[in-house]
Amino acid sequence: MKKPEPFKIKMVEPINLIPKEERIKSLERAGYNPFSLKAEEIFIDILSDSGSGAMSDRQWAGLMMGDESYAGSRNFYHLESVAKDLFGYKYIIPSHQGRGAEKVFFPQMIKKGQDVLGNMHFDTTMAHIELAGAHAINLIHDRAFDTVTPYPFKGDFDTEKLENYIKNRGVENIAFLIITVTCNSAGGQPVSMANIKAVKEICDKYGIRVFIDAARFAENAYFIKIREKGYEDTPIREIVKEMFSYAEGFTMSAKKDAIVNMGGLVGIKDDEELYISTRSLTVPYEGFPTYGGLSGRDIEALAIGLMEGTEEPYLEYRINQINYLGQRLVDGGVAIQSPPGGHAIFVDAKKMLPHIPYYEFPAQALANALYIEGGIRGVEIGSFLLGRDPETGEQRESDMELLRLTIPRRVYTDNHMDYIADCLIALKDKASEVKGLEIEYEPKVLRHFTARLKPVK
Ligand code: F0G
Repeated sequence: MKKPEPFKIKMVEPINLIPKEERIKSLERAGYNPFSLKAEEIFIDILSDSGSGAMSDRQWAGLMMGDESYAGSRNFYHLESVAKDLFGYKYIIPSHQGRGAEKVFFPQMIKKGQDVLGNMHFDTTMAHIELAGAHAINLIHDRAFDTVTPYPFKGDFDTEKLENYIKNRGVENIAFLIITVTCNSAGGQPVSMANIKAVKEICDKYGIRVFIDAARFAENAYFIKIREKGYEDTPIREIVKEMFSYAEGFTMSAKKDAIVNMGGLVGIKDDEELYISTRSLTVPYEGFPTYGGLSGRDIEALAIGLMEGTEEPYLEYRINQINYLGQRLVDGGVAIQSPPGGHAIFVDAKKMLPHIPYYEFPAQALANALYIEGGIRGVEIGSFLLGRDPETGEQRESDMELLRLTIPRRVYTDNHMDYIADCLIALKDKASEVKGLEIEYEPKVLRHFTARLKPVK
């Protein structure tokens, strides 16, 4: 029997599908880049699961308990105690969002020309690494690029590739390693506990520090519980503690699994020196270290959200909903990254639009077609997002061309999932009519947010 949502709805926000002719005009005005659409022009917004979740009545009540003291607010101490307990770390610093945490944490540990290793770095992490003069190296297992075979942990590092890379490149040229859980860029794919442990062992052998990009730590923990032998009966919060025991620190965008609209965290296990230097950098960039760019009320909602996001009935509902959408698409003949990940379905645009080459951005073209079809806003994760090589200026070719259908937490019902699936299945039958795109304008860093495109003739 299909289990219903473990919540009931107390407040609703109407949404509206504007006519197709208006959608065509809106997209043209937006430079064929859905980031530049107005939210009101969108019917179902699955651009991101970041900051787009629905807070609970408890979190909204928490907003009323905000202590807006400049320093040492009650809410900070609440957050600190929840996070210390959840992750088993000594030091917690809030930040305005994930990239704020990255900015105050990672660059201080990078020397120009070094590499930062990862399974697959998220784009803001890669940007901070490159801005610090280092290279972001992805060492995910090749299984991740095979969208068809349903390996349970496609976010895993290839440990052989990792060790060979360290040997060839030399330890002195490696700043540190980041494990991204779940691995967003590979399809929200989880990393197994066994792999986290193995990576930690290799890094210990060479004296390389291990950190976690913790944006979707709870979804990763849930996958370990349901897919990894030996964890079936382990409570989620114990799995979380074990995952974090293999790292020395983390950065977190709290806009995902902590189910708040804004917020981030840095966590440091026990390195006091690293804590003091991070705290010092937080002051000029994010603000005093007990607020880190957030209001007291936001910090309260974040403390509550960390607990709600690690509740098992919630995680079961969450993962099942993504899976439901995935299954509908598979049944309708749409190729997706399989099995579905934790926060999104990634449609394989290379397979759906084989006539469009990577330099004409097939997944971006598919995103635009889906908006015209149903007023749905997804997002490209492929060569358009990857951008140009910072040294040569050449367009890089992404291993995968994916359209991400990112599901906000506790926002849409399975009826919305059905509508999304129906629109994509309808598109599949007219895929050959979809045209590729060329760039009209692009900024140097993180171009996909603001670039303008046009259909190729
Ligand atoms: N790390 C990962 C794995 C992320 O997915 C994100 C954000 C960040 C770091 C940066 O956090 O946005 O709070 O500054 N991902 C969003 C997304 C933007 O849509 O996937 P942020």
